Amino acid sequence: MALTVRPINPRRNDFVAEATGVDIAAGVSAATAAAIEDAMDRYAVLIFPDQRIDDDQQYAFSTHFGPMETATGDIVQRDERRLSMDINDISNLDKHGNVLARDDRSRLFGLGNMLWHSDSSFKATPAKFSLLSARVIPPDGGNTEFADMRAAWDDLDPKLQAECMGLVCEHSQLYSRGMLGFFEFTDEERAKWAPVPQRLVRRHPRTGRLNLYLASHAGTIRGWPVPEARLFLKDLTEHATQREYTYAHRWRPFDLVMWDNRVVMHRARRYDHTAPRDLHRTTVADCAPTLDQPI
Ligand code: OGA
Ligand code: MN
Repeated sequence: MALTVRPINPRRNDFVAEATGVDIAAGVSAATAAAIEDAMDRYAVLIFPDQRIDDDQQYAFSTHFGPMETATGDIVQRDERRLSMDINDISNLDKHGNVLARDDRSRLFGLGNMLWHSDSSFKATPAKFSLLSARVIPPDGGNTEFADMRAAWDDLDPKLQAECMGLVCEHSQLYSRGMLGFFEFTDEERAKWAPVPQRLVRRHPRTGRLNLYLASHAGTIRGWPVPEARLFLKDLTEHATQREYTYAHRWRPFDLVMWDNRVVMHRARRYDHTAPRDLHRTTVADCAPTLDQPI
């Protein structure tokens, strides 16, 4: 069976597609992986329905797209982890499979995923692709939403575009969690997640398209007073996450969703916190810090 890619977003025909005709558990050829990357260039988010994969199969598939990240952005201590360091644990479960208490620290930290963000923008070299596999889905709620930062850039007022060009933001998980009133970091965590610089405007290396590079991790702009930077970033985020630029994915078990963090933001939506929700994420690293990438 051959890869078939079909746009599914009624709001835009170049953002979010469904990909069928591949069996990820069985492994894909280099040619199929290349065709998937071509589709990622166009659609930025691909949904692969009904891929009954385990972590090893998910990881093997992910390696076609670049070097892999490890889960160093997680807050859970290594001996408390449920999954290996190669997998980001996007669940509300502890290592015994029990649903976390409402006031559990790692749960509260994980609520940061409900703010618009781009994965690992708080790492010097951020993420390229994320691949998220749904294993257990709550009965309702818990959608994941995506926002197209290319279209948001294209529609931005030219004066604002000129102002954004060349700006450098500082990204940290301390900033995104701070937005939620979560400040209880250890000295070790503060050191590990010291702010890193990222360009505000990026150019996709293959398509040449420009886009905004925003995330709730962005806490200031170099050379700007902090409150002014935060207001500016808030305004840009408000613009970029208007309904016309977004798509809401409603999960079915064994969906695998793959997105390009260089050009989209995403966020999780609320669900009943007593219902298990278990998704596993593999993450492909970008090639370099954004300041080392040409624009
Ligand atoms: C992620 C993430 C959102 C969700 O996996 O990086 O932000 O809906 N997930 O769980
Ligand atoms: Mn994320």
